[in-house]
Amino acid sequence: MKNVKYVAIPPGAIIPGVLPEFKIFIFSQDGTYVLWAQEGNKVTQEQLAKLSEGGFNEVFVDIEDHFKYERYLETNLGNILESRWSSDEQKTSIFSKVSANVVKTAIESSLGLGTMGVEAMQQTIRLVKNALIFIMEANSMKALAKMIGHDYQTYEHATKVLWFTVAFLRNNLDVLKQIQPSFETSDKNQMIELLGQCGVGALLHDIGKAFIPAAILNKTDPLTPVEWEIIKRHPFSGMAMLLDTDIPDFVKKAVLHHHEDFHGGGYPMGIKGQNISILARVLRIIDTFEAMTSRRPYKAAIRPGEAVQIMIGITQIDKVEDSRSQVDYRDQDMKRCFEETLLRKFIVFLGSYDLSR
Ligand SMILES: [Fe+2]
Repeated sequence: MKNVKYVAIPPGAIIPGVLPEFKIFIFSQDGTYVLWAQEGNKVTQEQLAKLSEGGFNEVFVDIEDHFKYERYLETNLGNILESRWSSDEQKTSIFSKVSANVVKTAIESSLGLGTMGVEAMQQTIRLVKNALIFIMEANSMKALAKMIGHDYQTYEHATKVLWFTVAFLRNNLDVLKQIQPSFETSDKNQMIELLGQCGVGALLHDIGKAFIPAAILNKTDPLTPVEWEIIKRHPFSGMAMLLDTDIPDFVKKAVLHHHEDFHGGGYPMGIKGQNISILARVLRIIDTFEAMTSRRPYKAAIRPGEAVQIMIGITQIDKVEDSRSQVDYRDQDMKRCFEETLLRKFIVFLGSYDLSR
């Protein structure tokens, strides 16, 4: 067994010319960890090329430096996602790790202040901006497909919703134009700006869950009426937490409306149709799809194709012939929740990336 003092990291996380504040080790053939780069030393392209030629798929960091490593990842995320030294799967995993930390920090900072701290907000915007190009790439969607069905946690869920939202809107600029009518589809800078704002909304849509006790969030038995009332508050709490930040109003509105159903009956206000903000109508679809295809504390993951069938109303969830799936009353009669036109576009989008199987 390897020495537990070290944690493996992908070589692609190391950017040539940058000064990491931690030592980097390799695992040698004689079974020992050998110092490969000192902290504060720039790693060169030649060193990385040699590592790659030597077949080293991972390097190591002292577990005590793990915090420094995470901070380094966050600062250099943009470069890492562009690096040619790591695979799309490794990039996906680094991106997910960093975003999960960012959402966690956002939630923790809000808990103390009641509203989201300026620093946490800037950190979130930086993350989304750094990641936009990578998220929009077709290859990154393939790598994301491998993550579908994994563990469910608010942070990971938020990361995946961010991913789907940005990629979906990039593929459907007419929807982006509905979100911001002044958007000129030929204006690339405006598109990036707008996608970034929508991405921040997607990443933070459930931030209000910070105020729901974990015992309710993770409950495996049906919720009591009182517990439901507590759950239903999270869109309001989320918007309140973002109120003092300078993210655009349409994003705040999307956070408030993300559980409203297109044909009525959603929460917190029970509004319907065009009264629900367009970004919220998109999030309603993506949030549901992502939650169903991930393992939740109270149920197993459903395969993407089955999730789509349930969402369009072809299959009732108790008819799904998959032993991993369990009946969840929260997933019944879903069709009325979504705007049909948008749902159709989303299914076409899933098909174009082969994500619906
Ligand atoms: Fe939510």
